[in-house]
Amino acid sequence: MIEVKWITRLTELLGCKYPIMEGAYAGIGTAEFAAAVSKTGAVGCLTAMTSKTPEGLREDIQKIRRITRTPFTVNITIGLCPHIDGMLEVCFEEDVPAIETAAFRPDSYAERIKKSGITWIHKAATVDFCKHAEKLGADAVVLVGLDGYGFKNIRQLPTFTSIAWAVRQVDVPLIAAGGIGDSRTFLGALFLGAEGVYLGTALMATKECPLSDKIKESIVEARPDHPDLIRELLAPPIPKDFAEVLKMRDKVPLEEWLISLEKVMLKHPDWKDVDPAYLQQLIQSEGTKIVEFFPSLGTRPKGPFSFSCGYIDRIVTVQEFIENMVKGAEEILEKRAAEWEL
Ligand SMILES: Cc1cc2nc3c(=O)[nH]c(=O)nc-3n(C[C@H](O)[C@H](O)[C@H](O)COP(=O)(O)O)c2cc1C
Repeated sequence: MIEVKWITRLTELLGCKYPIMEGAYAGIGTAEFAAAVSKTGAVGCLTAMTSKTPEGLREDIQKIRRITRTPFTVNITIGLCPHIDGMLEVCFEEDVPAIETAAFRPDSYAERIKKSGITWIHKAATVDFCKHAEKLGADAVVLVGLDGYGFKNIRQLPTFTSIAWAVRQVDVPLIAAGGIGDSRTFLGALFLGAEGVYLGTALMATKECPLSDKIKESIVEARPDHPDLIRELLAPPIPKDFAEVLKMRDKVPLEEWLISLEKVMLKHPDWKDVDPAYLQQLIQSEGTKIVEFFPSLGTRPKGPFSFSCGYIDRIVTVQEFIENMVKGAEEILEKRAAEWEL
């Protein structure tokens, strides 16, 4: 059995063993979960929104460091994360291994992050936004394709098309996200030119993820070809809703607008019900309650997840998940090498 040295520009940038990153999760991106991922050799992600306050974030950063010395990132979801200035200050003071900004333009934070000398990764949904972050000085970019869950953009492309197109245009390490969650999609993304992969849904059906068993079982049970899921993730937004939400841009606070926009992009018919208390609830919610914020997911097994559900057939530990993914990839490489007489 061959054992691959998984060295890429991402592993060199972050000092991790595998070019695999945990995604950010509002409400469930906890220190314990991130530490469990980092311990495997992948990179855990502490979602600042989950820590709620700068002091909460400081405690969570220290908690991860008590569990493991391996690298992790801190996600700051621009426009949605409360106390962003304070959260950034804590990241600088604690000298975290890497800051990941996401969801909205990072322009007003770029200079401070760069000045801190901390590795900066920006996550975006389009190639142009990745190029913009690169211009601002991002050390790496995560590009999320349409296949993924979360913020959608009218110019977003399917994951593999996004990556193949982006590698021709982006010089900093490019990390692939969206619908990635097994050995084959991992290898596929690397062969397209990505320097690593970024997993949201795939890590949610693990024992350490602080989601309810009910949602984890939904992920196991779900099929990627459910018409509701296809419509939610791939269909363009309803033109009338999209036009209406764009008109709201300067009339409501950014966080409220972003939540409305996300719901329009994911085709939730209740998008107009968004009120300012919604965000607060979302942030304070426990993982088990997340599904309540997405009541319009229709008849498919409930829960916020992507096509990666197709690769998840049981709930395992994070260690088992990453090990299976890496070992499976090594087996595929070995088989191909023998077949092709490499
Ligand atoms: C329950 C849930 C919560 C999420 N919360 C956030 C968040 O707060 N900030 C963020 O940048 N991305 C968030 N995401 C998006 C993920 O970090 C990641 O980009 C996405 O899940 C990738 O697609 P995949 O699920 O197909 O792997 C969330 C995703 C899920 C499923």
